[in-house]
Amino acid sequence: MEDQSVEAHKAKTIVTKEEFLQINEQAAHEMSLDKELQDKALDVLVEADHHRWIHQGSWFGESLLNLPQDMFAIQDIIWRTKPEFIIEVGVAWGGGMLFYSMLLEILGGEKVIGIDIFIPDDLRKRLASHGKLSERLELIEGPSTSADTLAQVKALLGGSRKVLVILDSFHTHEHVLNELRCYAPFIEKGQYLICGDTVVERIPEQMHRTRPWGPGNNPATAVKEFLSESDRFEVDEKIDQRLLLSCHPGGYLRAVK
Ligand SMILES: C[S@@+](CC[C@H](N)C(=O)[O-])C[C@H]1O[C@@H](n2cnc3c(N)ncnc32)[C@H](O)[C@@H]1O
Repeated sequence: MEDQSVEAHKAKTIVTKEEFLQINEQAAHEMSLDKELQDKALDVLVEADHHRWIHQGSWFGESLLNLPQDMFAIQDIIWRTKPEFIIEVGVAWGGGMLFYSMLLEILGGEKVIGIDIFIPDDLRKRLASHGKLSERLELIEGPSTSADTLAQVKALLGGSRKVLVILDSFHTHEHVLNELRCYAPFIEKGQYLICGDTVVERIPEQMHRTRPWGPGNNPATAVKEFLSESDRFEVDEKIDQRLLLSCHPGGYLRAVK
């Protein structure tokens, strides 16, 4: 008499990876149309924000202000597109840079460029303390859209356009639109431009009452205007459909030209 688990395993009907992925894709599409579930997921994000949920993650001990769902999505993009450079605009506590550095280490990329207006010595020291992963990190201190910062980025890229850009700094419409315009030219066809915190458009205004952004003035509105003036990028809706919980809905942009 065979073990029950072995029998159950033999009865499996999905046997190829392609089949498995196809079924998942259809399920994700249906999930994206399930308004009740989408509303519940947004409620979780809103309620959990009162408990600093998004601030609680870390990578190799360094804090990371992003949801695991979004980090999985970014990991998948990096795996598929194999960028040589990853630019993170808005470094905060540095965990994101380490995460990206680890993937470039494994996949054979060049550098992770982190840009922030405020890079305290403490952060520099911590980011320099991670052995091999630290060697890939380049920090630029300055406003993301200043001519000086952009010139430093250009010099570090050395002509490469196999670049992934993740925008996650100051979330007003005007600032993000400017960033989208400034960083898009660094990216070649097939690579991604991720615009962070588009979820601000969907959450209650009072959540951000101490901040200059909110519904109507945020990364999502900036993406909308950017896409209306450029046909080089389109939203990768398949990513959105899978995530359910995400801070960047409609913010995963793929360069199609
Ligand atoms: C949301 S945090 C970044 C989180 C980080 N990407 C992560 O995943 O952990 C935003 C960061 O943007 C920086 N910032 C704000 N305005 C900026 C600007 N104009 N240029 C560059 N960085 C800016 C802030 O200092 C802050 O560290």
